[in-house]
Amino acid sequence: MNAQPEIGGRAPLAIDVEAGKSYWWCACGRSKSQPFCDGSHKGTPFSPVEWKADQAARTWFCACKRTGNRPMCDGSHKSLRREQAVAVLIYGLPAGAGAPEVGSGWPTKTISPLIKS
Ligand code: FES
Repeated sequence: MNAQPEIGGRAPLAIDVEAGKSYWWCACGRSKSQPFCDGSHKGTPFSPVEWKADQAARTWFCACKRTGNRPMCDGSHKSLRREQAVAVLIYGLPAGAGAPEVGSGWPTKTISPLIKS
């Protein structure tokens, strides 16, 4: 199985890290303490990723969980809107999502099916 993590946020999170301290980055996207693990990954195929700070510095952690440079942001969040639009075209809006608002990033036009019976 190749599970996709949930989107924990749509922009990187700046954290002032302490030199020598370990941080546990949430890889599943479910944590309510983004970007760090709160144990919500239990029952998923994901585990938190340990990262140790070499020096005290403001550090930008990935929140979207699509980075190729875990746990740091690599700009992958910029492609999330395109990923959403494709998902809506293929699968429709998620159950209970309601009508999307203009400006929310979701397509707001009704799209006719390409194949009619
Ligand atoms: S809560 Fe997401 S990895 Fe632990």
